[in-house]
Amino acid sequence: MILLGIETSCDETSVGVVEKTGEQLKILSNIVATSIAIHSKNGGIIPELAAREQVKFIIPVLQQALQEACRFDITNSASQTPPIDAIAVTYGPGLIGSLLVGVETAKTLSYLWHKPLVPVNHMYGHIYANWLPEFSEQIKQPTNFPVLILVVSGGHSDLLLMKKHGDFAVIGGTRDDAAGEAFDKIARLLGLSYPGGPAIAQAALNGNKKFIHFPRPLLSDDSFDFSFSGLKTAVYREIEKIKHQENELFPQLISDLSASAQAAIIDVLVKKTLRAAERYQVKSILLSGGVAANDSLRKTFSEIIDKQNLTLEIFAPQKSLCTDNGAMIAAAAAFNYNPQSWQEVTVDPQLYY
Ligand code: KG4
Ligand code: ZN
Repeated sequence: MILLGIETSCDETSVGVVEKTGEQLKILSNIVATSIAIHSKNGGIIPELAAREQVKFIIPVLQQALQEACRFDITNSASQTPPIDAIAVTYGPGLIGSLLVGVETAKTLSYLWHKPLVPVNHMYGHIYANWLPEFSEQIKQPTNFPVLILVVSGGHSDLLLMKKHGDFAVIGGTRDDAAGEAFDKIARLLGLSYPGGPAIAQAALNGNKKFIHFPRPLLSDDSFDFSFSGLKTAVYREIEKIKHQENELFPQLISDLSASAQAAIIDVLVKKTLRAAERYQVKSILLSGGVAANDSLRKTFSEIIDKQNLTLEIFAPQKSLCTDNGAMIAAAAAFNYNPQSWQEVTVDPQLYY
């Protein structure tokens, strides 16, 4: 089965084509255009601007994805329908204007090409990036159900228990700022660019993570919820204190504060996830969402598992598949094939799991 996946929930416009044979997936194309450069200048996303960029990119990205996957040219009226079996599209959660661009495009194509339409929850897409190989044709897929999933993106830091394909139970969630949001807001305080995660990770490479011991919010709490807004305030206070003494933030201070803040976020994410793995007796942990691209997060998980001799397997998508892309939406639809008539598909910006 060949699926076309369309993703436009935020600031990336992406179309991917994925083939499923048995349980294995293969990416035939995965084109991503991003409006990050515009948002970098503004220090964050302006939804109206993001939606306008989606409108600009969607057709060229679709054209390139189909051209690369199957030499299908949408601008050539002689080529009628592409050799795909279905269209998958993100219908939520996300920014309403951005979501509408992908959903309306997918509905039009479904009608025009007579292809089944599968609406996909964006968060499921992030999770199913773990089933996608990037370069090699076969990867070891997570099959040891139940698996524990740590979803860490711009809007989420959640822990889920997955009992089988499409069956997710939320065991902990985001109380205020999500992990990615914390990276983005702290980066802004430090004068680093948007998105903050990669910028902080880069600055932290030369920093001392023990420079300041920032609070580890909810670490000793019994729940599996996460809260990062207090950490952001603690970083703000520290910056004010330093500015008062030094008049400016020198690059080394930015690196040390980045390393210390990143360590606090990672410490909470890793320890609470491992505690949940023990409580729910799982053998596999899946990382997903943009923050799962963080090297230090991946390394810390592996180091603690090795050090404590835990019989736990850690899965994380290839880094380029951690952030928003169309292939992950096609992958989620491939394992949860549930087509709906195009008339019934609408956007749901507040969609949960
Ligand atoms: O999953 P995603 O692409 O979009 C959402 O669905 O939110 O995640 C974007 C988030 C941003 O907050 C960004 O700062 C963060 O993921 N991020 C990272 C890294 N790469 C992206 N955070 C930490 N380290 C990274 N390397
Ligand atoms: Zn996302």
